[in-house]
Amino acid sequence: MCGIVGVVGSKNAVSIILEGLKKLEYRGYDSAGIAVLEKNKFKTVKEEGKIAKLEAALKKTKLESDIGIGHTRWATHGRPSKQNAHPHASSNVCVVHNGIIENHQELKEKLAKSGAKFLSQTDTEVVPHLIEYHFEKTGDIKKSILETAKEIHGTFALAVIFKGHPNVIAVAKRGSPLVIGLGENENYIASDYYALSDHTSKIIALEDEEFAIISNNEIEVFDVKNKPIHKEAKLMEAENNRISKDGYDHFMLKEIYEQPRVLEETIQAYVDLSNSSIHLPNFAFDLKKINKITIIACGTSYYSGMCAKYLIEEIAGVEVEVDIASEFRYRAHPFRDDNLMVFVSQSGETADTLAALKFAKQNSQKILSIVNVAHSTMAQLSDAVIRTVAGPEIGVASTKAYTAQITVLSLLAIHFGCIKGKISAKQKEKLLQELAESGAKMVHLFDKSDIKNIKKIAQSLTSAKHVLYIGRGISQITAFEAALKFRELSYINAQGIAAGELKHGTIALIDKKMPVIVIAPHNKDNDLFEKTLSNAQEVNARGGKIIFISDKKGIAQFGKMAKRKIEIPKLDGIIQEAILPVVSTQLLAYYVALYKGNDVDQPRNLAKSVTVE
Ligand code: F6R
Repeated sequence: MCGIVGVVGSKNAVSIILEGLKKLEYRGYDSAGIAVLEKNKFKTVKEEGKIAKLEAALKKTKLESDIGIGHTRWATHGRPSKQNAHPHASSNVCVVHNGIIENHQELKEKLAKSGAKFLSQTDTEVVPHLIEYHFEKTGDIKKSILETAKEIHGTFALAVIFKGHPNVIAVAKRGSPLVIGLGENENYIASDYYALSDHTSKIIALEDEEFAIISNNEIEVFDVKNKPIHKEAKLMEAENNRISKDGYDHFMLKEIYEQPRVLEETIQAYVDLSNSSIHLPNFAFDLKKINKITIIACGTSYYSGMCAKYLIEEIAGVEVEVDIASEFRYRAHPFRDDNLMVFVSQSGETADTLAALKFAKQNSQKILSIVNVAHSTMAQLSDAVIRTVAGPEIGVASTKAYTAQITVLSLLAIHFGCIKGKISAKQKEKLLQELAESGAKMVHLFDKSDIKNIKKIAQSLTSAKHVLYIGRGISQITAFEAALKFRELSYINAQGIAAGELKHGTIALIDKKMPVIVIAPHNKDNDLFEKTLSNAQEVNARGGKIIFISDKKGIAQFGKMAKRKIEIPKLDGIIQEAILPVVSTQLLAYYVALYKGNDVDQPRNLAKSVTVE
């Protein structure tokens, strides 16, 4: 999604901004631009498409200045184009913006009456004009930012430069992340620390309604009443600096292969396997008193929440409800004191999840967030945080973060099970073992012959128009997640259906051209294999092309009827059923996208961290 980078006081301003924008590329964008203040004039270069195009344009139009702001745009208001790309400027004010100005139409009409001319279809373009309007009235940068923030409805991270002020970047934030990086006689700003990680590890994160005036040697932060606030800089972790594909063709492939390690490191962070003890971070509330859990998330994180429903209800016997974050605020909730709200998010910045979290907080709910990014806004706003130890996930399609989330949620289920007296010490030990052994089993999914088989199946699916995934129990959730991964990467319509639900409508789609991927592992904890098999028979009877994902025994039972098969290791319980089969489906989606020539790490129209509602 949109990214912001800026710098003041550096001889290398343009290259710092350009390199920073490149680091934010993985988040997804459709145009990019940079503006500098050069001899008291704004000089701007923008391009539709990839940053490489902007870089080429910058070689032709040299920008020379020690102050500048840059942006990658993910279109919301107005199509992707050079004209709509940021920065946007009025006569004396130039702005980059992440977020959405909800009342932009009303502001546009008002500003047009006092002479403002608009050149784009964006909501953002009202911002420089509004700041300029207030700057003309007050002659004060701080007041112009404050007054503008008051008038704007919606969300924003703003970076602003002013003619006549060659040593000042003003920034303001509401609902979209913005950090200030501290340098030596130069300072930086960005929507994500990662963009600045080559230059500094000292960071000040702005909070909502705060704004700051930044020069090469001073950072002043103010609150909504224009009062100065003292903010300590934090030292960021070094892991963000070590991001590379490590010889893999794509970040996504690397991240799929990293999963056994991620699983192991997440377990190591919270479990002492020598005595089967779980050490989750402190909760600011009494878990014993929790009788209901509500899990709220989006996309892949929502599916890990759905898996957690099965895990927590099975292992701890506590009722779990799972909500799509974008819907959560828009229905009545009989909030209870014994309800724990769990927010699951890789980025910790997803706008819908964040808004739901704030809504739950306003209603005095207990908030636990499970996030991958330690200093994310969700982490900061929560009563308790459990971090997934996945490391930075760069591929837009989430893979290793999903595995890490299920690992943490399994630990939460086991921990809860103990607290609630639902499981014995022996059962706890057994479940932890099941979790710990998943990593070693997962490694087998990457055997050469298995990859060769998946590649072959992927080839056969490149011309499909539709694909169905079916499963039962927790494998039903794997079917949902697998279908999401498949469609977002391959651009082929894929749906995940509860296998038993097929006959209630979707079976009408089955014909000889329809590939149906059946996820049917044996699991000693349930007897769903036979039932899934019956549903696969129904598909078979109607000529559907079955791709069968199961263990050796399952393949022996049904294999002959399947056109193709993917063998996975024998599973040892519900946790392994949540963690293992999905990996083969991630690989399948990856190879279909690869063979179709799609952009695997940045699928079209998608963004890594979705910071608009
Ligand atoms: C799909 C995917 C998305 C994210 C969703 C939530 O592969 O990555 O569906 O899971 O946008 O993002 P986070 O977890 O950052 O809140």
